Amino acid sequence: MRRRTFLLRGAAAGVGFLASAGVRGQEGSGRTATELPVIISTWPFGKAANLEALQVLQSGGTALDAVERGVMTAEANPAISTVGYGGFPNRDGDVELDAAVFDGSTLDGGAVCALTGYRHPVQVARKVMENSPHLILVGQGARSFAEEQGFSAEETLSDGARAAYQKWLKKHPDRLGAPEGHDTLGQVALSSQGSIAAACTTSGMAWKLPGRVGDSPIVGHGLYADDSVGGCVATGMGEEISKVCGSFLVVERMRQGATPEEAIEEALDRILMRQGQNPAVQAAFVALSKSGAWGAGAIGSRFHYAITRGNQTEVIEVKPQKRRG
Ligand code: GLY
Repeated sequence: MRRRTFLLRGAAAGVGFLASAGVRGQEGSGRTATELPVIISTWPFGKAANLEALQVLQSGGTALDAVERGVMTAEANPAISTVGYGGFPNRDGDVELDAAVFDGSTLDGGAVCALTGYRHPVQVARKVMENSPHLILVGQGARSFAEEQGFSAEETLSDGARAAYQKWLKKHPDRLGAPEGHDTLGQVALSSQGSIAAACTTSGMAWKLPGRVGDSPIVGHGLYADDSVGGCVATGMGEEISKVCGSFLVVERMRQGATPEEAIEEALDRILMRQGQNPAVQAAFVALSKSGAWGAGAIGSRFHYAITRGNQTEVIEVKPQKRRG
């Protein structure tokens, strides 16, 4: 299989959640909240994650607690085919999960890649940050660490994901069908105390090669946060997001004075510079500044994000941007 064919496919699993999420049509996606906390997440299923994160903050939890608990909502939901239990497997039928957390107060983080056998990789990622001298653990090492930390192994292939895999296998008995879908749940929270944290969780691409890792668990690619500037998370084709160090780029442009929306436009434009207007390349970012301004942007296809400020949560649609200039 040619590498190009292998990569250039995308699907927006989150769109299935639109009806229940109460989506608002597109408006300018750059805004400033007048009330803290502010929480932003990718995709309509980010709404449940935001509501959970808000509850954690309202109960006295930190921004890091909030994003960890927030993204766990999708990890537990078998109806979401791109995250946690429910995530579609790799081409061998194994669900390999990637997740990361990053704390903008300490610039510390933790991540797991290609973790099998645990439905909440984000919890393991946080333990990597807190209970190991490392930033990232992968594969069998991540699995052994999860066991050592007291997590119980569980079935991670949901009935729906198993059925989808069987169908795919029938169509592609050589297991060389193109990977599909990469709708990461990424979340950034700005607490009332001014702390910013970010988390990402994903099963990566369905039918990927075993061992493939995208942007989501890589600090600076799928997520980044710095209390003195803001935070950003990504979703979409990890290979392309990683090539521009997407989330770090957005935060650094904000540090230089760009609004979240301007910074995101620039990062997406960098991806488009490599890819032209190829509509098969789907990527999106959401970002928050330390002052509560937020932005979102996408290329390739429509994108939806969930935003919470104060007690109000809504899902907003963003149309894909074209290459500038
Ligand atoms: N953005 C998710 C992935 O590419 O794995």
